[in-house]
Amino acid sequence: MGQKGHYSLMVHGGAGALDNVKDQKTAVRYLESIRHILEHGREVLELGGSALQAAETCASLLEDDPVFNAGCGSVLNEYGKVEMDAAIMDGRDLSAGAVAAVQNIANPIQLARYVMTESEHVMLISEGAMRFADHCGIAREPDNYFYTPDRVEQLKQARLKHKIMLDHDDTEEDSEDQKYGTIGAIARDEAGNLAAATSTGGIVNKRMGRVGDSPIIGAGVYADNETCAVSATGYGEDFMRTLIGKTISDYMLMMNLDGRQATAAGIEYLKRKVKGRGGVIVIDREGNCSSGLTTKKMIHGWIEKSGEAIARF
Ligand code: GLY
Repeated sequence: MGQKGHYSLMVHGGAGALDNVKDQKTAVRYLESIRHILEHGREVLELGGSALQAAETCASLLEDDPVFNAGCGSVLNEYGKVEMDAAIMDGRDLSAGAVAAVQNIANPIQLARYVMTESEHVMLISEGAMRFADHCGIAREPDNYFYTPDRVEQLKQARLKHKIMLDHDDTEEDSEDQKYGTIGAIARDEAGNLAAATSTGGIVNKRMGRVGDSPIIGAGVYADNETCAVSATGYGEDFMRTLIGKTISDYMLMMNLDGRQATAAGIEYLKRKVKGRGGVIVIDREGNCSSGLTTKKMIHGWIEKSGEAIARF
């Protein structure tokens, strides 16, 4: 069983070429946010909070920071609207909650947690999820709470590019300069419990009603105390088709790999089967932190076994 007495925490804020992080000031802005959020998570865990509470707290803070593609600052769909997906999972008993295509909710991850704890379901979507939010007393925010000038500009560019892409039929080039934004937080508490949370605005210029991997249990999010906690960021369709979170967990469960080996095997599988684009963060049952990616970079950070907070691209 897992080793007791220490905690681990990991967060991510998207993967891709990250061409928007070219200058030092922007890079520092991202890394400071990641470190700051890790320290908040540390406080939750040191005060005796559960892995679930730490993952939810960190995911909520990432949603509140407009530089990340989740909550406020979410990317815009083909109609210039924000539609968000989120899921949370508790490794103690595999309980899980998810929401998809929700609008005007500041913290979809908190709504996902309500779905897990206050409903008999695992996933609610769209208008039904928003009515459930009303029932839970979660306020709806106005559209302008979510919009940032960057996202409006990004949609303009994506629309332009979409035309070009159709003309040239070259998706490879597009994948290199796109940031596949999502946020995620995973934790192991001192009792050895694991939890995972993932939240996103999805992909720029996506079709209305498109749902990505983030709210799909086993794809963008997974946690099982017997194996590991996983959060993915990337091109959702690739992660849905490979069920990357569950695949990594299964490598541990069925092939006896440790967390690092299972993460590497999962990334290999993602590349081999679908040429998947993105990355994952993983904490195994012992509290070891690992990450893997197929893109050039991933914004992420970790506290391994109660150690110092580290943030990296
Ligand atoms: N991974 C985020 C998405 O594809 O929606």
